[in-house]
Amino acid sequence: MLHFDCSEAESFISEKERVSAYEKAKGAFQQLQTKSGKGSDWLGWRDMLADPNDALLEKIDRLAEKIREDADVFIVCGIGGSYLGARAVIEALTPFFPTDKTEIIYAGNQMSGRYLEELITYLNKKKPDGSSKSVYLNVISKSGTTLETALAFRVLRDWLYQNFEGDADKRILCTTSSSGGALNKLVDAHNYQKFIIPDDVGGRFSVLTPVGLLPIAVAGIDIRSLFYGAVSAYEHFENDPEQIIHYASVRYALSQNSYAIDVLTSFEPELRSFGGWMQQLFGESEGKNGKGLFPANLGYSTDLHSMGQLVQQGQRNMMETFLAIKKSRTKLRVPDTGTNDDGLGYLVDTSFHEINSKALQGTRQAHVQGEVPAITVTLDDLTPEHLGWLIYAFELAIPIHVYCLGENPFNQPGVENYKKAMYQLLGKPN
Ligand code: PA5
Repeated sequence: MLHFDCSEAESFISEKERVSAYEKAKGAFQQLQTKSGKGSDWLGWRDMLADPNDALLEKIDRLAEKIREDADVFIVCGIGGSYLGARAVIEALTPFFPTDKTEIIYAGNQMSGRYLEELITYLNKKKPDGSSKSVYLNVISKSGTTLETALAFRVLRDWLYQNFEGDADKRILCTTSSSGGALNKLVDAHNYQKFIIPDDVGGRFSVLTPVGLLPIAVAGIDIRSLFYGAVSAYEHFENDPEQIIHYASVRYALSQNSYAIDVLTSFEPELRSFGGWMQQLFGESEGKNGKGLFPANLGYSTDLHSMGQLVQQGQRNMMETFLAIKKSRTKLRVPDTGTNDDGLGYLVDTSFHEINSKALQGTRQAHVQGEVPAITVTLDDLTPEHLGWLIYAFELAIPIHVYCLGENPFNQPGVENYKKAMYQLLGKPN
């Protein structure tokens, strides 16, 4: 299902460092299991896998099915942990190019007025048959107060009321905490359908709650397989955590050896947004008190032509994490065009999967020779179940690393600083 290969990173740490990091990581895993580490009241993302809520999965599935029958556009309005997981899974598992199914559009993850104006112009544009688009809006905010999301929600809600007189309230779905925050007031006032983000699950660990599951289901992905993939991973790693402890310990040992950057990369462009989800999970969990590896989300081979030079020969302070998919998902082979005028004759009939795999191997080999430690995480296939495994594997590994660093993996106190400064400039009362 999932395999972590740390062999090309271990050669950059001594045996003594390796053993001591492993022992530390083992202790950290026990802290998670016994709920005795920092922030252990934020472990709901583990508890919900130990005791799956099938009724909730069913409810989300049924609603998503109804929305898919009616919606041309489904807007996911959220930022950070309130949209990155959904986007990661949706982009990994749906086609690259638009289909005639419900289109998923993201909003509320920045403050661009131009983006919202153009989005509204797009929503106003009639369909080829001259009818109006059917639009649904899922606002996702645990606090219910995040400015980016609240601003976009205000603009889009207003547009919905102007365009769907009579049933706008039914087109708005709120995913928020059980109580408190401006969103809950709106839910009560308008009777919007509401999904709850459990109190003990932080944003970056929330993809398998309604935060991620509703948009993912609307995108037509089997959320039961996704969720139960994570449940299988949970059950597997509870009894046999060796791979995860090993992976976390190698990252920890490298971080203690002046490595400062973890380049997260894949040769599969549909995993680019998955790298964005990893980036938040890693960065927001680790970056405290001067510690943590900077997670840099690159997409290869594209970025080899922009960042490859720096990775190969820049400051030697980076490691690399490759995400690979073993099973080919393309039938495309290099065609025999009957001529070698482009010099590609040596590749005739080679599959694109093989070319991509060789590119990964060659890149990793060159980077390791250039003194960049490499970890390769290989999924046997790219299905909802496999992604469920991958999500849980990283959700488990990162807190282990952060406990090794002596920090709390589940808070993000530093995020408040920019908000304070921004609100002061905007003249927010209190
Ligand atoms: O991981 C986190 O906690 C953050 O990234 C939040 O998800 C993000 O700031 C959005 O917060 P909220 O859901 O309260 O709008």
